[in-house]
Amino acid sequence: MNFTSVQDVQDVAALIDEAIELKNDPLAFRHLGRDKTLGLVFLNPSLRTRLSTQKAASNLGMNVMAVNADRDSWAIEFQDGAIMNGTTVEHIRDAAPVIGSYCDIIGVRCFPGLVSREADYDEHVMKQFIRWTGRPFLSLESATLHPLQSLADCITIAEHRPPHRPKVVLAWAPHVKALPQAVANSFSEWMCRLDVEFVISHPPGYELDPGYTGNATVEYNYEKALEGADFVYVKNWSSYSDYGQILSHDPSRMLTEKHLAGAPGAKVMHCLPVRRNVELSDEIADGPRSLLQLQAENRVFAAQAVLKRILQKL
Ligand code: CP
Repeated sequence: MNFTSVQDVQDVAALIDEAIELKNDPLAFRHLGRDKTLGLVFLNPSLRTRLSTQKAASNLGMNVMAVNADRDSWAIEFQDGAIMNGTTVEHIRDAAPVIGSYCDIIGVRCFPGLVSREADYDEHVMKQFIRWTGRPFLSLESATLHPLQSLADCITIAEHRPPHRPKVVLAWAPHVKALPQAVANSFSEWMCRLDVEFVISHPPGYELDPGYTGNATVEYNYEKALEGADFVYVKNWSSYSDYGQILSHDPSRMLTEKHLAGAPGAKVMHCLPVRRNVELSDEIADGPRSLLQLQAENRVFAAQAVLKRILQKL
């Protein structure tokens, strides 16, 4: 069993319930991971994903080995047939089976290059790890998706769900750097599997791959999009059509209390790390609407629910 997207989950509601049950009794399945090893490979930086996945594995009784392959290990070559006389030191065909021989489950973080949309959306790096480790695979954020984050977001929404069908708004916010579309793509495809009204708001040119957004409503008018929202998920992403480019720095899209006059009950979400007073204001981050810390806490139970299912199939 691999976990690379919502497509790997048959019943999303059942997985959310399972994660909430684990949150209530985190050590209930401590026996499951005995003598099993989780290998975590980071080709890019992380705070939450690394620590929450380690904590989840520890709650399940697993051993964990983590490597920052961007710094601590040999530079990996991913191109087949490469003449390796440059900066890469070992080929994924050699490195991945080694990792696979040490571990029962492999998690990998591999961000996109944001240069070639074709290469990034083909998930070449993730596919190579899946192929050559030969072990169940856990995405720790790939070039296009961040499913553990999205599952944690779904848990958080379930915990704060109002009695009515909620309105969830994915709100593009400015940022100083070009960021991947992974969190936005992933959040979109998970929202399409929940019983929610899902609206996406961004400046023109930031349309996401429709393969992930499904029937979501795109509302360019920010004020209109936020009207009556129950959850506002603030996130930056770079352009998908003008691939990897920053098309707008519009500061009026930094979320502040003023924006939420028409959404008095709205809770605010962000996957973190967040650029305060660029993406959203301090008053939002530190105020009563903020679910930011809860989302991060729920990363543990998202990872734990997924690892539990993988362990049960080993
Ligand atoms: N949200 C998230 O994935 O955080 P990290 O990049 O710190 O892992």
